[in-house]
Amino acid sequence: MEIVIPYQPRDLQLSYHQDRKRWSLLVCHRRFGKTVCAINELIKSALTCPLERPRFAYVAPFHKQAKQIAWDYAKHYSRPIPGIKINEAELRIDYPNEARLQLFGADNPDSLRGLYHDGIVLDEYGDMSPRLFSEVIRPALSDRKGWALFIGSSKGGTIFHELYEQVKNNEDWYVRFQKAFPAADLWTAACALAGPDTRAAA
Ligand SMILES: Nc1ncnc2c1ncn2[C@@H]1O[C@H](COP(=O)(O)OP(=O)(O)OP(=O)(O)O)[C@@H](O)[C@H]1O
Ligand SMILES: [Mg+2]
Repeated sequence: MEIVIPYQPRDLQLSYHQDRKRWSLLVCHRRFGKTVCAINELIKSALTCPLERPRFAYVAPFHKQAKQIAWDYAKHYSRPIPGIKINEAELRIDYPNEARLQLFGADNPDSLRGLYHDGIVLDEYGDMSPRLFSEVIRPALSDRKGWALFIGSSKGGTIFHELYEQVKNNEDWYVRFQKAFPAADLWTAACALAGPDTRAAA
């Protein structure tokens, strides 16, 4: 049976899906499609993971934020898959191959303890404590060599910038930086190209 997920990846989204590594980091401008891309990678991985009871997680800085920014996407893109079970209270989707995708908030690290992950997304990573990854998430990825994706915008938090600087030339990482010109910069650039306005002086 053919299942069609209503998602047509944009160029950079496609590049991530095709070329990602165990460790990935995406710095992209606002509304680029980072969260949609991340959710779709989680769903694809959940459906194709060959291990028993695959476990995937999406983490936003706050639980409420995870629900606001990613829960609708998770349900929307999972809906065409027959036999899924959606648990609204736990922000959890169970797939027919016993895979599970659950949304969490970094404001409640205890909710992530004691789990294993085959893949995890840390959205708006710049707004999280660095200890969350090192103390809670990294150990949970070791059991089954799970992957992690860190995402944020170019304005996103110090720890996100520090991580980017640390890993941008590391071959073990898939790293992409896509920065849009803010409107004000475009205006300045356009003025510089046009040169001084001589008409006013005539
Ligand atoms: N491949 C796609 N095809 C069509 N629409 C898309 C695609 N990817 C993202 N979108 C749409 O673009 C908008 C922004 O997507 P998303 O929330 O993933 O962006 P974001 O980069 O996470 O934004 P933010 O920086 O605000 O968190 C949404 O309306 C989403 O539905
Ligand atoms: Mg987002």
